[in-house]
Amino acid sequence: MSPFLKASGVFVALLLTSGVVLAFERTSSFQMGHPGVGMDLVQTNKELEAKVQANKVPAALPAASSDGQLAVDAYKNVQVLGHLSSGDFTRLMTAITTWVAPEQGCAYCHAPVKDANGNPEKDEDGYIIADTNNLHSDELYAKRVARRMLQMTMQINGEWQPHVKATGVTCYTCHRGNPVPQYIWFNGTPVEGRPMIGSNGSQNGPSLKVGLASLPSDSFETYLRGDATANIRVISKSALPDEANVATVKSTEQTYGLMMHMSTSLGVNCTYCHNSRSMAEWSTSPPTRNTAWYGIRMVRELNREYLEPLHDTYPANRLGPTGDAPKANCTTCHQGAFKPLLGVSMLKDYQVLAAAKTQPAKTPPPEPAPEGAPAPEGAPAPEGAAPPAPATP
Ligand code: HEC
Ligand code: HEC
Ligand code: HEC
Ligand code: HEC
Repeated sequence: MSPFLKASGVFVALLLTSGVVLAFERTSSFQMGHPGVGMDLVQTNKELEAKVQANKVPAALPAASSDGQLAVDAYKNVQVLGHLSSGDFTRLMTAITTWVAPEQGCAYCHAPVKDANGNPEKDEDGYIIADTNNLHSDELYAKRVARRMLQMTMQINGEWQPHVKATGVTCYTCHRGNPVPQYIWFNGTPVEGRPMIGSNGSQNGPSLKVGLASLPSDSFETYLRGDATANIRVISKSALPDEANVATVKSTEQTYGLMMHMSTSLGVNCTYCHNSRSMAEWSTSPPTRNTAWYGIRMVRELNREYLEPLHDTYPANRLGPTGDAPKANCTTCHQGAFKPLLGVSMLKDYQVLAAAKTQPAKTPPPEPAPEGAPAPEGAPAPEGAAPPAPATP
């Protein structure tokens, strides 16, 4: 063989092998079911590294003193956090500022210092300055929303442990340093029925809501709000549709749409929660499916009891194209991770958000001494009383 042929043979071989090497990436796989049933989650190490970067948790603030005056007594208008010591209260105010409005500061929620014309005053960096004498004011909608958010966060941590476990959530789980969380949803704009073609049933459009599959994009409206109890089922138990048999073609398509959302929001595939031999069978599903079942019910409650009722509190520019309030889904917390923030608990450093507490009444001012009782030492003499006798030397 001529040296030229030999050389080009080696060259072609190198090219092929390098092609093969380049086509592979290092991966990590996690096994969710018995060996051999294909219930694995395979991710490239690059994807995993990106997830670790995206889910870094901010350092906790140093602990504050838990004794001392209660917030309900220390301040004027505290309705949810009254049971905290003023130290814990101030620490939490600082924390929520870094979680929700790190650039805007206290003035995102608290009324600003105003100039002679009533316009907010700004510091040299252009940020509005909060009026420290007016922190009790509920003038800004953001403060009124935040008060409800405090209650929502405590409800999640206190009542939804079947889903969030002891890991729990803080404002950061959803907000990640933004006043408006990155992942919220609104009702879709209904498509007008057209003669001949009819309505498209909200499907076949590229919607991120269903992982870009050609499935209906209105499954959140159907399954993530309102009805607290409805189970999501696709298999008919009887031949004809009736009240118990809700599995229509439409609801089946919407179910698959929701399942695409759940998979993409957790960054997993269907076998993270199902054994694909039978999607419906609970006894062969991994326990993650039970956790997800509670998650669906939790999200419904958050939307129904907390987020939708804030509709009238938001300014118009916060509402969706059809005028509805912003709502949560699985991605609002999970953001591509199987557990939000990869399972790191921020709640353990902020136990003040662990559960709702009944609010103590303000301590009443000390009662005036009953008539005729000797006045406490050093107390000013009651009006009209005889001046104290001069001390005899
Ligand atoms: C994301 C919104 C938000 C931010 C940012 C915020 N606060 Fe608050 N603040 C609230 C809410 C809500 C209340 C009322 C809590 C309640 O009713 O239990 C409150 C109440 C207060 C009160 C009690 C006032 C009174 O007399 O009733 C003080 C003091 C306070 N905040 C200080 C601060 C300081 C200082 C900062 C900045 C470091 C800050 N807050 C940032 C939402 C916020
Ligand atoms: C389950 C997710 C979730 C958690 C936890 C959460 N929020 Fe929110 N928050 C939302 C959603 C959704 C909205 C609506 C977005 C909008 O206002 O457009 C919102 C809106 C807000 C707004 C109004 C922002 C604006 O300008 O419209 C404030 C302020 C706020 N949250 C504060 C907080 C605070 C403080 C906490 C923690 C005590 C908290 N949130 C916890 C989901 C969450
Ligand atoms: C995070 C867990 C999770 C993931 C991921 C997931 N599912 Fe589900 N799936 C559930 C839960 C929970 C239910 C039951 C919902 C309910 O009753 O509210 C369910 C129900 C179903 C049903 C209805 C079964 C019946 O009883 O009729 C089908 C079909 C289904 N899923 C298919 C899929 C497909 C396909 C995928 C992947 C695209 C997927 N699922 C991904 C948790 C998951
Ligand atoms: C309020 C924030 C929040 C929302 C919204 C939320 N989750 Fe979660 N989820 C969590 C937290 C926190 C955990 C971690 C619990 C733990 O440490 O085991 C978790 C854990 C899970 C797990 C268990 C993962 C595992 O490997 O053990 C599944 C599955 C899950 N969520 C599915 C869902 C689905 C599906 C939705 C939407 C229907 C949803 N979640 C909405 C906060 C949330």
